[in-house]
Amino acid sequence: MARGSDKTILRALAGEVQAVPPVWMMRQAGRYLPEYRATRAQAGDFLSLCYTPDLAAEVTLQPIRRYGFDAAILFADILLIAQALGQKLWFAEGEGPRLEPVRDTSALRAAGDIHDTLAPVYETVRILARELPPRTTLIGFAGAPWTVASYMIAGRGTPDQGPAHALKDTDRAAFAGIIERLTEATVDYLSQQVAAGAEVVKIFDSWAGSLKGADFADFAVAPVRRIITELRARHPGLPIIAFPREAGQGYVGFARATGADCVALDNSVTPEWAAEHVQKDGCVQGNLDPRHLVTGGAALGAETRRVVEAFAKGPHIFNLGHGITPDADPDNVHRMLAAIRGD
Ligand code: CP3
Repeated sequence: MARGSDKTILRALAGEVQAVPPVWMMRQAGRYLPEYRATRAQAGDFLSLCYTPDLAAEVTLQPIRRYGFDAAILFADILLIAQALGQKLWFAEGEGPRLEPVRDTSALRAAGDIHDTLAPVYETVRILARELPPRTTLIGFAGAPWTVASYMIAGRGTPDQGPAHALKDTDRAAFAGIIERLTEATVDYLSQQVAAGAEVVKIFDSWAGSLKGADFADFAVAPVRRIITELRARHPGLPIIAFPREAGQGYVGFARATGADCVALDNSVTPEWAAEHVQKDGCVQGNLDPRHLVTGGAALGAETRRVVEAFAKGPHIFNLGHGITPDADPDNVHRMLAAIRGD
């Protein structure tokens, strides 16, 4: 289906090797762009931006206009699903997300009841499906259950996901119940994004790296495998990208274990290692260290070429190892794109 498509991202996800890899960036709509800061100011606050379809679509389109990326990623946040399940969510200015912590599912809504809250997100997807250039792929997304649960249980971001580990280790049934509810809700949420026009979905497991041994199998692999299996049953052939960030050795075999078409790589693994051990199973996405977009210079060009060349023999989508940061220089993105093309 995707082979021969004029959408380079879909071709890479179908396994095609391209002379110049398609490219987009995590957090490509963000505070490093003056036009994002202006639209965010217009929205008033971050959550209003996420829930106002015209403005969320506008910030999604801004980096496409400026840079011509091959993919646009829906502008939203992985924590909206916690709010849709009935949990209080707010963003403390300059401090990140805050939630009223949960320890079990007693205060949460049923998975099927999330859509009233999330309807504006589906509307954003519909606007984007109409307005994106024909060659640009639209990516929808959700957080993986473990990462979303880590915020729901702690009530905030934590360096080591300590509260979520503690609940997992002291009240396994309550913890597994939260993961189960999130898994069901995530299938429904992503399915609605696809129905609205998302062509690819990405599952962000930013804290997968803190799950070790059997916990990695139970909570980083199994829920993601279930989400992928159920989504594919509803949407045959849907391309899916999984991002088990900082999984290290856990990246090996992750695509086969979950059914993902593409594994996104963080920059703690070298592209040479990942080409040998991960790309052998299919498409990979990544993995330039985002700090090069802050520091620029010769290292930006050299490291960009290193990533392109290390992955040149297999299907590859160029991306960063994590989101672009607010202090990045927007002109460095142009320099990265020139280096990818070999200019
Ligand atoms: O990538 C994109 O351009 C799409 C939009 C997107 C956002 N967040 C917008 C956002 C996506 C895919 C996310 C995912 C997300 N959100 C993750 C997983 C990926 C990762 O970064 O590891 C996580 C853990 C979150 C939760 C979250 N949202 C945190 C911890 C924060 C605060 C940190 C920060 O950067 O401020 C957010 C806020 C957030 N989400 C911003 C953006 C653009 C910044 C908000 C602002 O404008 O003030």
